[in-house]
Amino acid sequence: MKVLFVASELAPFAKTGGLADVMAALPPYLHRAGHDVRVFVPLYDTVDTSNLPLVRTLEIDVPLGEHRYHITVFRGHDAPPTYFLYCPALFARGRLYTSHPDEHRRFLALAFGALLSCHELGFVPDVIHGHDWQAALLPMIVKSLFPRELRGTRTLLTIHNLNYQGSFPAAAGADTNLQPELFHQELLGAGRVNFLLQGILFADGISTVSPTYANEIQTAEHGAGLDGFLRARSSTVVGILNGVDYQEWSPERDRHIPHHYRPSDLGGKARNKQALLASLGLPHDPQVPVLGVVSRLVGQKGFGLFEPAMFDLLRRHRFQLVALGSGEPALEDLFSRLAQSFPQRVGFYKGFQNSLAHLIEAGADMFVMPSRYEPCGLNQLYSLRYGTVPIVHRTGGLADTVQQWSPRTGTGTGFVFAHHDQAGLSWAIEAALATYRDPAQWQRLMHNGMAQDFSWDTQGKLYELVYERLTR
Ligand code: ADP
Ligand code: GLC
Repeated sequence: MKVLFVASELAPFAKTGGLADVMAALPPYLHRAGHDVRVFVPLYDTVDTSNLPLVRTLEIDVPLGEHRYHITVFRGHDAPPTYFLYCPALFARGRLYTSHPDEHRRFLALAFGALLSCHELGFVPDVIHGHDWQAALLPMIVKSLFPRELRGTRTLLTIHNLNYQGSFPAAAGADTNLQPELFHQELLGAGRVNFLLQGILFADGISTVSPTYANEIQTAEHGAGLDGFLRARSSTVVGILNGVDYQEWSPERDRHIPHHYRPSDLGGKARNKQALLASLGLPHDPQVPVLGVVSRLVGQKGFGLFEPAMFDLLRRHRFQLVALGSGEPALEDLFSRLAQSFPQRVGFYKGFQNSLAHLIEAGADMFVMPSRYEPCGLNQLYSLRYGTVPIVHRTGGLADTVQQWSPRTGTGTGFVFAHHDQAGLSWAIEAALATYRDPAQWQRLMHNGMAQDFSWDTQGKLYELVYERLTR
């Protein structure tokens, strides 16, 4: 099958979250499985090109309404062939996403750039697999602007997060090269165009990144205003859990951690804990459990619950907290205040740092994700593999991947709280701390988690089935 991937992130070159990890793993899986895959992403000015041998491949012009952009297409690596679109006028902003008035054009240029490049390369995809709002107009573009050239092409839209919709003033519609009648008319009348909605209306297939989230987004509570449109297309909506790239994320071979370990020999984990605490300038006591956080600090992730619950817990129990993240100032401030209030117990690194993310997974004893909603979540999957017991809110992909520990049966992989409130979070963390005090139980719990397998070899096959269904 010929598959075209279009997305705004690709690890390790351009990453703000899990989409980058998915893009770094799913296309290579499909390539290994024998499909002819092409990947298109922007060449942001933030991309570190030192390990990326770029080969100038094409020069293309992309008209967007009245605007015209020149794009140089560089081929990056080959497994699968991955193309980086160079257009400083659009992608040299010092970061991946902006709220600039041309934000919609930045990613329209990606979508059109990918299609025009494929045309030049003589690559006619069977499936165009677009990700999030940045690629969500592709189904409309294919159907209405390339009806002959791409008549056999089917489109799949994967929604990684329904709350980022690409909603713009109606004037943005003029930059899409598409007929105004194709846009949702009531919304247009109200002065808006919504890229993700247009994708939901036009894509041949719609997927999201966990089965529970696939159900949740069809409810008013989690539908972010689009649930009605998703319900109307319910038979095409599937939830496929993300996989894990265990080449990147496993304690046996992680390139970013000082000590490797495996289920049969956990000595390295204890040494990583020591290294982690040292790197944050915190004292180390092997008896004291360490709770980890690695996250974008945004409302979705639920850290509002830490105030006051985490302050109370730190006052009442012996444990340490290590956190890595950046985002909304109020949440950064919350973690800074925790670190100031408990200088020996809480370490906070404000920023984005891949190697520290790996060290926290390896060195912490437990990992907390109190997300209000979570389409899939990757860090709980990484935590499981590293024997770092996840403590999660029962929502989305967290509900699908972490099972509540039962001391009676010795089954389960973590601690799962149902109600997103102070009591729920405190209950789960206290249950984890109590279990930690029983080394035999804790070992069992760690081993249960480490034995879980979320590899792309399993999850990728589910995408192949979706492609087959779409093209049959
Ligand atoms: P989301 O995509 O919603 O941010 P996921 O759990 O799917 O959540 O993926 C987050 C990814 O981003 C993980 O690979 C995580 O390690 C990484 N990450 C998040 N914040 C940081 C940070 N501050 N530094 C390094 N890596 C981070
Ligand atoms: C989004 C979601 C996250 C998911 C990731 C990759 O960023 O917030 O839950 O794991 O996409 O699909």
